[in-house]
Amino acid sequence: MPSLATFRDVAFQRCIRPSCGATYEAESVRTNCSKCGDLLDVSYDWDRAMVPDSLRHFEQYWTQRRDPLRFSGVWRFHELLPFAPREFLVTAGEGQTLLQSADAVGQFVGMRPQRLFLQYEGMNPSGSFKDNGMCAAFTHARMMGAQRAACASTGNTSASLAMYCAVTRLMKAVIFIGSGKISYGKLSQALDYGALTIQIAGDFDDAMLRVREVSRDLGIYLVNSVNPFRLEGQKTIMLRVLEGLQWEVPDWIVVPGGNLGNGSAFGKAFSELHRLGLIPRLPRLAIINAAGANTLFELYERRGVRWSDGNPPRDIIRQYYDELDRSHGKADTIASAIEINRPVNLNKALRALEACDGLVRQVGDQEILDAKAQVAAGGLGCEPASAASVAGARLLRREGIIAPDDRVVCILTGHQLKDPTTTVAYHTNDQQVFNDVLAKRGVLRASFANRAVAVANELDDIIKAIRLNS
Ligand code: F0G
Repeated sequence: MPSLATFRDVAFQRCIRPSCGATYEAESVRTNCSKCGDLLDVSYDWDRAMVPDSLRHFEQYWTQRRDPLRFSGVWRFHELLPFAPREFLVTAGEGQTLLQSADAVGQFVGMRPQRLFLQYEGMNPSGSFKDNGMCAAFTHARMMGAQRAACASTGNTSASLAMYCAVTRLMKAVIFIGSGKISYGKLSQALDYGALTIQIAGDFDDAMLRVREVSRDLGIYLVNSVNPFRLEGQKTIMLRVLEGLQWEVPDWIVVPGGNLGNGSAFGKAFSELHRLGLIPRLPRLAIINAAGANTLFELYERRGVRWSDGNPPRDIIRQYYDELDRSHGKADTIASAIEINRPVNLNKALRALEACDGLVRQVGDQEILDAKAQVAAGGLGCEPASAASVAGARLLRREGIIAPDDRVVCILTGHQLKDPTTTVAYHTNDQQVFNDVLAKRGVLRASFANRAVAVANELDDIIKAIRLNS
């Protein structure tokens, strides 16, 4: 088994800006380049790493599931994220997720049979894709001897961090959430797992700024996706997608965009696999914003901001944020997980869009909730933000950009039970509940509502109701 010294030779951190390219050792805690301030990658000297010749190599681990690190859908791909030796790896059984062919949802999107797939990350232990990245960041935190770990969150990152702290008892979780901005399913997880929960008067973007200051001042390990080790774990979502397609590359990956960690990680995964000769081509990447939190859409599609070899036009980006500040523009969407106006991974996402011939779309809350109802009717429930991927695929299909025969994978990022308030309001009979939760945010229809049938507690009435409705 390779030693820590071996891993020191293989893995390091590197500034993503090619004109800077500063490097730092893997065993250091950073979220930004000390020279130019840009984001950092975890990089590898692949010649020294033990990279397999073919992705089929990983199939041998399927028979070793009694070993928790082979059971993990993240660590069974350890060779492709070799920054830590085995004895440091942290797992809570993450990544047992499913790529499911979903014809009913495919029909809604406008695809031919067997062409739409859903990658259901809600099956992770804390109910969202975050566990993929959290086990990797947690592993790095453990290497660094951290005692406390912090994040700002719209709910899923905090649930995941709180869970890893509770499972491993290695660290204490400190989480920052905006007030009234987190769904009950997620808040209940953080509280139940015992995290120190700081609810600040503000939204996610405010909480993100504060947690960076606090973790710097108090020396707390930061696990938001600005932490490059998080994204290493999230690369494995794409490895499992490939695994589910028998290692064939799909035509499209469609993913919701919030803080833009996933899109960034996916782009990095495919770029690395391509460079290593493990896949013949890259899929196209579509990142879907909620219309009420559409910074990437605005910058990429409307203002023409591009990666530009690591020099995206900073003046245009700054001007956009200044405009937001002047108009007090706050993110506002029913998809609370992606209610983010200042995505920390913007530059990495631009790089991923460039690598994967990507594009960005925005979808409204109405489209998100209708898509969410269709996902559930097809058998895999998800939370609102996740359904943005399906609503986005449908839009791209209507635009003729996705063809009906393309092979499309939509990522369902979080579990159905994360946000029951929204789901019940969508299906409710109670106009007041509908108005309070949905209509006031501009969702006026529930096109696919499945309403409960109210009946008196009388056998005859109940039988009549069943006959009438089935
Ligand atoms: N979907 C869900 C369910 C999420 O929780 C998030 C992000 C996203 C999509 C967006 O992913 O940030 O990689 O673009 N949630 C974060 C949180 C911000 O705090 O839980 P991204």
